[in-house]
Amino acid sequence: MAASRSLFSIPSISSLVTFVLLVGMSCAQLSANFYASSCPNVLTTIKTAVNSAVSKEARMGASLLRLHFHDCFVNGCDASVLLDDTANFTGEKTAGPNNNSLRGFEVIDNIKSQLETSCPGVVSCADILTVAARDSVVALGGPSWNIALGRRDSTTASLSAANSNIPAPGLNLNALISAFSNKGFAAKEMVALSGGHTIGQARCTVFRNRLYNEANINASFAASLKANCPSSGGDNNLSPLDTTTPNSFDNAYFRNLQTQKGLLHSDQQLFNGGSTDAQVNAYSSNSATFFTDFANAMVKMDNLSPLTGTNGQIRTNCRRTN
Ligand code: HEM
Ligand SMILES: *[C@@H]1O[C@H](CO)[C@@H](O)[C@H](O)[C@H]1NC(C)=O
Ligand SMILES: *[C@@H]1O[C@H](CO)[C@@H](O)[C@H](O)[C@H]1NC(C)=O
Ligand SMILES: *[C@@H]1O[C@H](CO)[C@@H](O)[C@H](O)[C@H]1NC(C)=O
Repeated sequence: MAASRSLFSIPSISSLVTFVLLVGMSCAQLSANFYASSCPNVLTTIKTAVNSAVSKEARMGASLLRLHFHDCFVNGCDASVLLDDTANFTGEKTAGPNNNSLRGFEVIDNIKSQLETSCPGVVSCADILTVAARDSVVALGGPSWNIALGRRDSTTASLSAANSNIPAPGLNLNALISAFSNKGFAAKEMVALSGGHTIGQARCTVFRNRLYNEANINASFAASLKANCPSSGGDNNLSPLDTTTPNSFDNAYFRNLQTQKGLLHSDQQLFNGGSTDAQVNAYSSNSATFFTDFANAMVKMDNLSPLTGTNGQIRTNCRRTN
C-alpha cells in the first residue's frame, strides 16, 4: 500500500509542480491584450489624457517621456519613481537627476484616478506611465510602437540606484555607452534613445559649464544661451534641448549636433570625432531610420525588469503603496 501510494504521489507532485511552473510563467509574461476584458478603455483613456495635457503644454510630452526613462533605469519599469517621500519612506524623487527636475506626476495621477473609477484596482501605474510616454512621443509627431502590458507596481524605491543608474549630463562618450550597456543597450541604441532630447527643456545648472568652459560648442549658439544662463545665478532658467524645433519629435536634435549645438555636454559627446559620429550623420539625413531605431529601443526600455504575476501590487494611488 505504502509503495503504491508513493508511486502514485510522485507523478502527481511532479505534474503539479509542472502545472504551477507553467501557470507562473504564463502570468509572468506581458501581453498586448492584458486588459482586454478587465479594462477595455485603458488605451483610449490614457491617450485622451495625454493629448489633452500636451495640447495645454507641449513640454508635458517631453516630461512624461523622461519620467518613464527615469523609472525604467532604476530597477525596471515598476513606477518606483512615482512614490512620494514620507516620514518613514525615502523614494527616488530627491535623487540628483530627479530633484527639482522631474515633472508630469499630476498627469499620471489624473489618468490613474480616471482608471480607478472605470476599472478599480486593475491598471498599474507602471503600465500607465509606459503608455503615456509612447502617446507623448506620438502627440509631438514621433513614431509609435506596440506595448505589451501587465507590469505591476513596486512597493519599494531606491534613491541610491536612481543616483547611480541614471546617466549624468557631464558624462563622456565611453561613460554614456557603459551606463546604457549596464541596462542591456548597445551604443547604437544609446544614440537612438538620446534622440529623446529632440523635445523638452533643461535648466541652466546642467549646461552652464558647457557654455563657459567647453570648446566644442557653436560660438553664436553659446552667446545666445548665455543671455539666459549667466555664469552665476539663474540656475532654473530653461533652454530647449533641441534649439531648432523644441516641441516636435523629429531628427533636428541630430542636425544640431553636426553644428555643435548640442545643449548638454553628453549630447555633444555623440558627435565629437568619436565612434558615434557616423550614426548622428545617418539620423540627421534620414528621420525614418531614427524613428525606427528609437521605437525599437523604446520597446526594449519598456520591457526592463517588469514586475509580473503576483510580484508587486496594483497601487490605488501612484504616489504611495497600498
Ligand atoms: C544619454 C544620457 C542622458 C542624459 C545624460 C540625460 C540628461 C538629461 C538632463 C540633464 C536633462 C535636463 C534636466 C533638467 O534640467 O531638469 C534631460 C532632459 C530630458 N531628457 Fe534626458 N538624458 C539622457 C537620456 C535621455 C533619454 C534616453 C531620454 C528618453 C528617451 C531622455 C529624455 C529627456 C527629455 C524628454 C528631457 C526634457 C524633459 C522636460 O522638458 O521636462 N533623456 N536629460
Ligand atoms: C509609515 O508611517 C505611516 C504613517 O505615517 C504608517 O501608516 C505606516 O505603517 C508606516 N510604515 C512603515 C513601514 O513603518
Ligand atoms: C532638493 O531640492 C530642494 C530645493 O527645492 C533642496 O532644498 C534639497 O536640498 C534638494 N535635495 C537634495 C537631496 O538635493
Ligand atoms: C555655428 O552656427 C552657425 C549658425 O547656425 C553656423 O552657420 C555655423 O556653421 C556653426 N558652426 C559650426 C562650427 O558648426
